[in-house]
Amino acid sequence: MPGPYLISTSILSADFTRLGEQIGEAEAAGADWIHVDVMDGHFVPNLTMGPFIVEACRSVTSLPLDVHLMVEEPDRLLGAFAKAGASQLSVQVEACPNLHHTLQQVHQLGCRAGAVLNPGTPAVMVEPVLHLVDLVLVMSVNPGASGQVFLPEVLPKVKEVRRMLDKVNPRALVEIDGGITPENLSAVIEAGVQVIVTASAVFKNPAGIAAGIRALRASMPGGG
Ligand code: DX5
Ligand code: ZN
Repeated sequence: MPGPYLISTSILSADFTRLGEQIGEAEAAGADWIHVDVMDGHFVPNLTMGPFIVEACRSVTSLPLDVHLMVEEPDRLLGAFAKAGASQLSVQVEACPNLHHTLQQVHQLGCRAGAVLNPGTPAVMVEPVLHLVDLVLVMSVNPGASGQVFLPEVLPKVKEVRRMLDKVNPRALVEIDGGITPENLSAVIEAGVQVIVTASAVFKNPAGIAAGIRALRASMPGGG
């Protein structure tokens, strides 16, 4: 699937004392989606944001809010995040014994549905639900924190997921999350990714948010 490629900027690395401003800066610089990393202290050790933050983001931007639920029993929280203004809800397949039903629930709530695969989880886990997803998110770090190093061993899985989607649901997107930099961007795009999630490369870029987004676009085939 050719570009345009989308950038989903993860606010996990934003300065939360100035969250609205930082989201505004990312939007002005051409971010496509705002990625919200929800961690519950159980599925991953870290504890981060709830529906209240999604609601705050919704009030400052019209960009799609790409909510990544790194939580156990996500079904219990879907309604609250949808109500808060999430545009899409992505659930970790490892946390969903009834994945098919969970994805249906997301659609019933009016959101786009994503299924997320950890680095240790094979592509076959999403095969039975590919017709139900709007995106498959392949984790390129173990979830839990921003600023980790990209794991290149997930690239064959990206290719496999893209190939499987092309057969049954070609409009669905493949998203990648973790350790993305201008240096590894062409390899992930070549493997079949359409959406790049990035926290540090944008919000921790020493030259600023706009420079971070510019550097990523410049590394995409045809400049994005
Ligand atoms: C990791 C999160 C990512 C993270 C990405 O658990 O799901 O979205 O914020 O951060 P970087 O881009 O710094 O690896
Ligand atoms: Zn994420």
